[in-house]
Amino acid sequence: MNNPVRVAITGAAGQIGYQLCFRIAAGDMLGPNQPVILQLIEIPPAKDALEGVAMELEDAALPLLHGIVTTTELDEGFKDADVALLVGAKPRGKGMERADLLAENGKIFGPQGKSLNAVASRDVKVLVVGNPANTNALIAQANAPDLPAENFTAMTRLDHNRALAQLANKTGTHHTRIKQMTIWGNHSSTQYPDLHHVNCDGKTATDLVDRDWYENDFIPTVQQRGAAIIKARGASSAASAASSAIDHIRDWVLGTDGDDWVSMAVPADGSYGIEPGVIFSFPCTCEDGQWKIVQGLDINEFSQARLDATDKELREERQAVESLL
Ligand code: NAI
Repeated sequence: MNNPVRVAITGAAGQIGYQLCFRIAAGDMLGPNQPVILQLIEIPPAKDALEGVAMELEDAALPLLHGIVTTTELDEGFKDADVALLVGAKPRGKGMERADLLAENGKIFGPQGKSLNAVASRDVKVLVVGNPANTNALIAQANAPDLPAENFTAMTRLDHNRALAQLANKTGTHHTRIKQMTIWGNHSSTQYPDLHHVNCDGKTATDLVDRDWYENDFIPTVQQRGAAIIKARGASSAASAASSAIDHIRDWVLGTDGDDWVSMAVPADGSYGIEPGVIFSFPCTCEDGQWKIVQGLDINEFSQARLDATDKELREERQAVESLL
């Protein structure tokens, strides 16, 4: 058996956190031979709920679970963390402007970045799930100057998986037979789900579906799926979000499959004309615990306009939190 991996989760008593704890402790994220220690972080009002989650984790007697820390102190929760899932965030209140939401979340992700910088493993893999995820990740990264910037990522894997599901339904193909899906940009309604490079059971996806469906059904459905779930369920996506967070970390740690790739929001490095300064979702492959942006994909005029739009939104978000960077 390997040494236990320390997995820190903020917002661990919330909807997504509750799902994450059990799936990670069951081995879904790091494999059936990898013990874990869960370091669960909450804010004081949720401390009792967090203790309840820890009691349930104990009661499940999961073989891979080698320890549980519950805390409201960041430095205790992030101590030596190998993986940090930043899920807890301030939800958008009534009448709150986007800039206010960004500023409120900045107050959370700045200190979290500082704490990770001070106490986490130097190889910590950070995934920000809490919204606005890309810009929260940027704030955390900017506040952790001693950690490599590439350790900080944000989640667009749920959007990626939603896009697989929509195309699978449309073409009658099982989603495991669909490869090279890409979500570009921000985890918001400006994200761009790109079918141009997708291989659907050996065929080019854009040859299988008509243009009208792609532009006027597929793209808006994927972009608006979060809102559709809230409308149907009366609560935001939780199990699917946790599942996608697990996919993101699993592939980052254990590697992507063959010639397939995944969507990860990572620090822009100039690839595809996206200048550094934002956390942008790209097609990525992973090997030996490192992600790499897939290079050389053709970007047509239609795609370029969408990449530009989501980049513009991210630059505006960045401007709104400039003082926190
Ligand atoms: P929730 O409200 O059920 O749980 C959030 C938890 O975070 C609460 O228990 C709260 O006490 C805790 N929390 C708040 N501030 C905290 C802080 N500073 N430190 C530690 N814990 C803190 O919310 P849910 O459904 O679990 O969603 C969490 C976040 O994930 C939201 O921001 C949501 O918008 C986002 N989300 C992102 C998705 C993505 O694809 N990137 C998909 C779905 C949700």
